[in-house]
This record gives sequence, structure tokens and C-alpha cells, in this order.
Amino acid sequence: MEDARDLKACPVDFDHESEAHVAAWPGEFREMRGTCPVAWTEKHGGFWVATRYKDIVAMAQDDATFSSFKTFDPHSGDVSGGITIPATPIPRGLPVEADRPDWDIFRKYLNRRFAPKAAEARRAGVRRYADSLLNRVIETGEMDLVNDFTGPVPAMTTMELMGLPLDEWRQFADPLHEMVFTPKESPDFPHVIAGVQWIFQRCVETFRERRSQPPRDDLLSYFAHEQIDGRPLTEDEMLSFCNNIITGGVDTTTALTTHALVYLDENAADRRRLMDDPTLLPIAREEFVRYFTPIHGLARNVSRDVEMGGAKMEKGDRVYLAWAAANRDPEVFDAPEDVDIARFPNRHIAFGAGMHRCIGSFMARVMFEEMMQVVFARIPDYRVDPARARRYTSVGTINGWIDMPTRFTPGPRIETGLVL
Ligand code: HEM
Repeated sequence: MEDARDLKACPVDFDHESEAHVAAWPGEFREMRGTCPVAWTEKHGGFWVATRYKDIVAMAQDDATFSSFKTFDPHSGDVSGGITIPATPIPRGLPVEADRPDWDIFRKYLNRRFAPKAAEARRAGVRRYADSLLNRVIETGEMDLVNDFTGPVPAMTTMELMGLPLDEWRQFADPLHEMVFTPKESPDFPHVIAGVQWIFQRCVETFRERRSQPPRDDLLSYFAHEQIDGRPLTEDEMLSFCNNIITGGVDTTTALTTHALVYLDENAADRRRLMDDPTLLPIAREEFVRYFTPIHGLARNVSRDVEMGGAKMEKGDRVYLAWAAANRDPEVFDAPEDVDIARFPNRHIAFGAGMHRCIGSFMARVMFEEMMQVVFARIPDYRVDPARARRYTSVGTINGWIDMPTRFTPGPRIETGLVL
């Protein structure tokens, strides 16, 4: 009889979590796309890796076959499914780790809070956070780009969106960033996790407070007062929403903006072009999202035997959809390994594809644009120092930087009405 393992064609020695992958990923994906577009690796209990644009889009769109559903038992720690490989032993994120028909209810409930108009309405607030954060450092002529600027701006914007007190911005921004880059075996990890738990505890406390207060215009108040499918939202569902929104929206936007600023420092002609012509910023933004793909890849769980890209997948298998590989597929993009800040059209799938496509993409775009414009306006001669900066030691989920020393000509503080 044929061993099930014999069916796993195209074996590769691939580990998206490894340190080697951080530098090697463009070449690894190029080779796999050409030779084994749906390949099998034995790492992390075994999983498929999809690298071709068309296969990844097909899988993301076939949500009945490629499930995102996750189960987690907090008592035993048993975990299965979900969108990360290896599976993360924490309660599921919602709506991202739900399947239809539940997903329809969860997503519909959130949609109205994340429409383009709602994101646009936050633009002035984002600008104010960016300017106020720069005020803290602008007279010194130096900062850490990630920890002083591109990290806190999305963190503060998310706090405002949720309705959490802004004076706690540092306790909010740091653990969310540290959680992404601190290895699970590090002695610092328990401290980082305690910081993240503190954030979720603040969400619970604020949610309970909001239940006894009249409705106001923040997300925790919305969760406390707005019924879902004709009943109140449970505390677990509220936490699962917070988990998805907070972890999905903060460090991703940080990574995108940091990469873009580093790229522009290294490419003076593009920097000049973008500063001279601000109308190019939305087009360049999409190219940075494509090229750097802040969420490199996410998982699905195969719910029936199916053939995809020449691979025979079996019910129960897991598959990693490498958005970053799809975004450099030469079948779809000319010169995919080059940054072209005027690339148009740009059909990247860095915000996903199919029903789980990012609900926060409009918010992310607003945050990115405002951070870039504040840098261009107030510290136009900034210089980063990637040689002294630290890259994430794993980019399998988020492709970002731990820190980024940065210098600029000192400038004046400006009035924002907010002292941090
Ligand atoms: C550059 C920044 C961002 C990137 C690259 C990004 C990327 C993604 C991707 C790839 C997905 C698809 C997940 C899947 O298919 O399994 C997704 C979903 C999601 N994102 Fe984002 N995201 C970003 C910013 C944000 C922001 C700012 C928020 C919230 C404020 C957010 C909230 C969500 C949520 C709630 C989902 C789940 C949607 C669903 O399952 O229906 N994201 N994001």
C-alpha cells in the first residue's frame, strides 16, 4: 500500500520561521515557484507551501476547501488549525479564524466601522499623533525610527479606534512590537506575553465600563452596545475581535512604513521624485506594500482531498499561502524583483484575497501616508543606519525591523495640542 507521505510531491527543505529564510526568501520563493509551485516541507509537523500567484488566489477564494478555522483549549493548551504555522496557542482571532457561515456574521458586524470613509475620518488624528511623536525627538536630531515613530503611530491610532486611554501608549506599543520579534524560547518572552495580556485585560475592563455607560464613538463601546445577530456580543468574541484588530493592524503598518523609509534613504532619485510629487504617494504606497509584503504568508487548513498546482492535498493537511512569493510572480508583475514607485496597475495580494481580505487596508493606507508626509515635511534629510539596525530573526509571518537608528537635522517642535 502507498504510504500517505509518498503523495507529498515536491519535497523541499523550507522553514519560513528560520533565520536563514530572512535573507534567502526571494531566491527560495523564485526557485520553488519555478520548480515546485506547491511544495511539501516536513518542518513544523509538515505543510504545503504555495508560491504561485494563481494558486494562492484560487486557494484564498475557495474558503470552503481551504479553511481558516481554529480551535484552542485554554486548559490543555491544545490548538488546531488557524492561520499561523506553527499554530499559535492563544484564542482565535475574529473574523480571520472563522469560516462561513459564522464569518459572514462577524465580518458584517465589523464592516461598517472600517469603511473607507471611517478610515478617512481618522486622518487628522493620525497626523496629530505623528507630529506629536516627532516633537519628542525633533530637537535632538536623532531617534529610533521604529520605536519612536513607525511603531507608536499605528499603536496610538488603534488605541483611539478602540477607545483606550492614550496616556498608556508606551505600554501598548512596546509589547505589540516585542511579541513579533522575541523568540518563544527567549527568557524575555514571558515578560513580553505579560505585556500583551495586560493590553487585552485593558480591553476587557474598558468593555465592561462601556456596558454601563451611554454609547460613544469607539469600538469597545460599539462592542458593548451593538447586538450581533440579534444578541449581545460575548466577552470571548470581543477579545477575539480585539486580538485580530490589534495584532493585525499595528506591527504590519509599522513594518511597511519602516521598509519604505529605508528604501527611500537608499534610493535618492526615488526619494526626490516622491518628495517633489506628492500625487505619486498613493501609487508608490501600493508598490511598497507589494514589494515588502508586511505579512509574508498565512496558513489554511485543507478540509477535503483536492489537487492544486499539481499537488495532491489531503483532508487535514496544512498549507502556507506565501503572499510575498505571489507578489513577485513574473506571470503577473513585470520585473517583480524591482521597486517601481510608479507601477500601475498593481494587482498585489499583500492584503490577502477572497473573503478574508484585509478589513483594515484603508486604515493602513491612511497611517502610512500621514507618517510619510510628516517625515517629508519635517525631517526631509533623514538618514537611517541599517547596518546598526536589527532585522526580525523570523519573517515568516511579519517582515519587519526591530529598530532603526535614524539621524536628521534638528528642527522645531510644532503645536499639536498633545504633549507626549
Ligand atoms: C500594511 C498593513 C496591513 C497588512 C499588510 C495586512 C494584511 C492582511 C492580510 C494578508 C489579511 C488576510 C488574512 C487571511 O487571508 O487569512 C488581513 C486580514 C485582516 N486585517 Fe489586515 N493588514 C494590515 C493592516 C490592518 C489594519 C490597520 C487592521 C485594523 C485596524 C487590520 C485588520 C485586519 C482584520 C480584522 C483582518 C481579517 C479580515 C477577515 O478575516 O475578514 N489589518 N490583513
